[in-house]
Amino acid sequence: MNRAADIEIRIPRAGDLPAVVRIEGASFADPWSESFLREELANDVLRMALVAEGPRGVCGYIMSWRVADQLHVLNVAVDPAWRRRGIGRLLLKEAAVRAWAAGLEEITLEVRRGNVSAIRFYEGLGLREVGVREGYYIDNGEDALIMTGSLAALLEMD
Ligand SMILES: CC(C)(COP(=O)(O)OP(=O)(O)OC[C@H]1O[C@@H](n2cnc3c(N)ncnc32)[C@H](O)[C@@H]1OP(=O)(O)O)[C@@H](O)C(=O)NCCC(=O)NCCS
Repeated sequence: MNRAADIEIRIPRAGDLPAVVRIEGASFADPWSESFLREELANDVLRMALVAEGPRGVCGYIMSWRVADQLHVLNVAVDPAWRRRGIGRLLLKEAAVRAWAAGLEEITLEVRRGNVSAIRFYEGLGLREVGVREGYYIDNGEDALIMTGSLAALLEMD
């Protein structure tokens, strides 16, 4: 596959859950439960989720909440076999397009201080560190970096 050319970003369907559970398990040391993921794959007044579908099925997802004028990203992950092809970037950009259309202005998230690849990924999309939540993650007491960015700036990126 040539970068992200054959990828569709779409609203999740019920049948996507097994792929999302598998990618979550392959991506995080403390994966969310199936029931929690099922809830967060919803699209309603609060939640906005998207999946990336490639030639072999769902290969990534993003889950977020609308909080005032902010899109708060809870979770974004790409199947390890499909990383570095621009799929994460496509997911974040499509979430930004939809959030902007819904009247939101900013994107915010927390990321583990040690998750250097994710931090580089977010920095590449114009997000910047604006604070730290010390000992935020209960599994190992790791700090969370708070990152924010402008949706308008994100939408202007290639
Ligand atoms: C973070 C994550 C979603 C990125 O997805 P991806 O599809 O591989 O990212 P992209 O291919 O769109 O990368 C876009 C840019 O981000 C940066 N980037 C992505 N992964 C990187 C890495 N491992 N190291 C350094 N920079 C990285 C690069 O600048 C990259 O552009 P390039 O490939 O042209 O150099 C993916 O690595 C992942 O699923 N990680 C595990 C889950 C996680 O930690 N999620 C974030 C916390 S919620």
